[in-house]
Amino acid sequence: MVEEIVVIEGDGIGQEVVPAAIDVLEAIEPEFEFVEADAGDATKAETGAALPDATYELAANADATLFGAAGETAAEVILPLREAVGSFVNVRPAKAYPGVDALRPETDVVFLRENTEGVYSGHEDRLSDDLSTLTRVVTSSASRELAEFACEYVMEGRGPANGPESGFTVAHKANVMRETDGRFREEVLAVAEERGIDADEELMDAFATKLPLDPTQYGTIVCPNLAGDVLSDLAAGLVGGLGLLPSANIGHENALFEPVHGTAPDIAGEGVANPTAAILSAAMLVEYLGHQDEAAAIRSAVESVLADGPRTGDLGGDATTEGVTAAIIERL
Ligand code: NAD
Ligand code: IPM
Ligand code: MN
Repeated sequence: MVEEIVVIEGDGIGQEVVPAAIDVLEAIEPEFEFVEADAGDATKAETGAALPDATYELAANADATLFGAAGETAAEVILPLREAVGSFVNVRPAKAYPGVDALRPETDVVFLRENTEGVYSGHEDRLSDDLSTLTRVVTSSASRELAEFACEYVMEGRGPANGPESGFTVAHKANVMRETDGRFREEVLAVAEERGIDADEELMDAFATKLPLDPTQYGTIVCPNLAGDVLSDLAAGLVGGLGLLPSANIGHENALFEPVHGTAPDIAGEGVANPTAAILSAAMLVEYLGHQDEAAAIRSAVESVLADGPRTGDLGGDATTEGVTAAIIERL
């Protein structure tokens, strides 16, 4: 049976980097069936809805979905899409590559970001002209589900070689958010203990200093939703920019893959966006569907081009998105 991949380009450079990733997927076996769907600012302007029901349903029922980025409507699009695929973890690797000028070339970390709650649960209220509130949600069940995934992840050796010997680091702010992050911390550490996994912990503010000072202390990092958003962009800064970071939103029976970056309005439409993040997201998709060798082939072609091939402006080169993509396909 041909696997069905839903493709949502979205806005801005989503319309440039997603077609690049599809070109790469079309260059490998097996053959996938691509189903295009709309979402984002332009879709909202046309139809009134940033995320049409039809797109939600397609993502909910596909074998996997590849998403680019949405602009002002990003939260209206990506948060429900993560929910559509039942995703409880957002896997965000940040790795420095030979040949790429990085602030911290020794960086090799993976964030396992809680993906359903925290400040992203949508409970915001305007109570008066002067006062707005946000309810931060933390459940034991979501914290434990994330921790179970993290334990499997490190036990299967999928995490980076860096970091605590066999385990992971949990970053939290339980000294202030005693109830919410206190629960998160307690549950994550309890699951690690039950599973016999070594887990270190860091307060996330101190972690934000220690990571750039010495990234080799860290490998797999488990964190709440907003912390994972901010810290993964910080890590992008250590390895050469947002053009390099892929991500996977994993659910029990479904998943959605997307670059960590947004629509990059400053370069959109010029054909010069770095397709690496989207192509590595496609590699994560291919791996998720069980095609390990093909995923490895995509990664090694990407790494080869990063080492000595054409590069886009964010990495100091003058190649186009299409030029970099063609070089990757050539080296597959
Ligand atoms: P951004 O990630 O779009 O861009 C930040 C900087 O990184 C820019 O200078 C941009 O040029 C650069 N950059 C990002 N991706 C790149 C690539 N592939 N190649 C080369 N350079 C790249 O973040 P922003 O500027 O804060 O946000 C722009 C818009 O994107 C906003 O409307 C925001 O809401 C949206 N956004 C969407 C998503 C999403 O859909 N998942 C994620 C983040 C931001
Ligand atoms: C990301 C983005 C999203 C997030 C926004 C656009 C909702 O910043 O994917 O990192 O905060 O998760
Ligand atoms: Mn983000």
